[in-house]
Amino acid sequence: MAMQGRIALVTGAGSGMGRLACRMMAAQGARVAALDRDAEGLAATAAGAAAIFSQQVDVTDFAAVKAAVALVESTIGPVHRVYHCAAIMPLGKLLEQDNATVHRLMDINYGGLVNVAQAALPAMVARGAGDFISFSSLAGWLPMLGVGAYNASKFAVSAFTEVLYHENLASGVRFACVCPPPVATPLLRQGFDTGMPKTIADIEPIEPQVVLDAIEAGLAKGEFWIFPGKGARRAALMRRLLPGLCWKGIHEKEGY
Ligand SMILES: NC(=O)c1ccc[n+]([C@@H]2O[C@H](COP(=O)([O-])OP(=O)(O)OC[C@H]3O[C@@H](n4cnc5c(N)ncnc54)[C@H](O)[C@@H]3O)[C@@H](O)[C@H]2O)c1
Repeated sequence: MAMQGRIALVTGAGSGMGRLACRMMAAQGARVAALDRDAEGLAATAAGAAAIFSQQVDVTDFAAVKAAVALVESTIGPVHRVYHCAAIMPLGKLLEQDNATVHRLMDINYGGLVNVAQAALPAMVARGAGDFISFSSLAGWLPMLGVGAYNASKFAVSAFTEVLYHENLASGVRFACVCPPPVATPLLRQGFDTGMPKTIADIEPIEPQVVLDAIEAGLAKGEFWIFPGKGARRAALMRRLLPGLCWKGIHEKEGY
């Protein structure tokens, strides 16, 4: 198996797709460093899995992320795969969301990626091997009413990851930017608690395993952009080719 004997580092490992990725890679014979700010979530992820080592880390704290990566490399070994999942998704109209929340979205969703990339990638690039998997979203392509601040953070994730990939094309490290539609994880609850627009609420979420399977398949084929599930790639393409039509549909759906 691809991850047998390898070392993986997963952020957002205390829930959802990060947790599933930890368990999947541990089951494949990897040793997994699980990072999250949520200690309880981490404990649940690591429960019963001797190959999952958890560290409570806030991805917005660059010194803490660097220390966590250094600890993994010195105690477990060189990181082969990074799965950067940590993110938040409070929603709301841009002029109604409080200022601190809009900034926090960018700090965690975009700033966290910057920190994890700068902490983990230089050694991977120097070794000339590994996989760097960055979680954007379909929301990193398609702006929607009531999703603006999350959209902005995920557009930033998409752009940062794309340039990172191109700047390191010859490095031997594989890069993937994952852009899922809604996925059945606790993240969606944050959206419903703060005001989920119909544009998202009316979509049946896909299962997290579908996303992880699409990542494995995409990596094997050397794909950078990964759009799991049916329709996500088409929606992103629609946005690029026919943005006015997309907005018309969104306004009709939301009724304003
Ligand atoms: N669930 C969806 O519908 C969906 C759709 C598209 C993209 N995504 C993206 O997929 C990724 C994984 O999402 P998920 O659905 O598994 O979410 P989730 O809410 O289940 O898990 C996210 C984890 O990130 C952690 N986290 C949040 N802020 C952190 C911080 N500052 N430092 C460390 N950890 C922090 C949380 O504690 C949580 O354990 C995210 O980047 C998300 O934006 C999710």
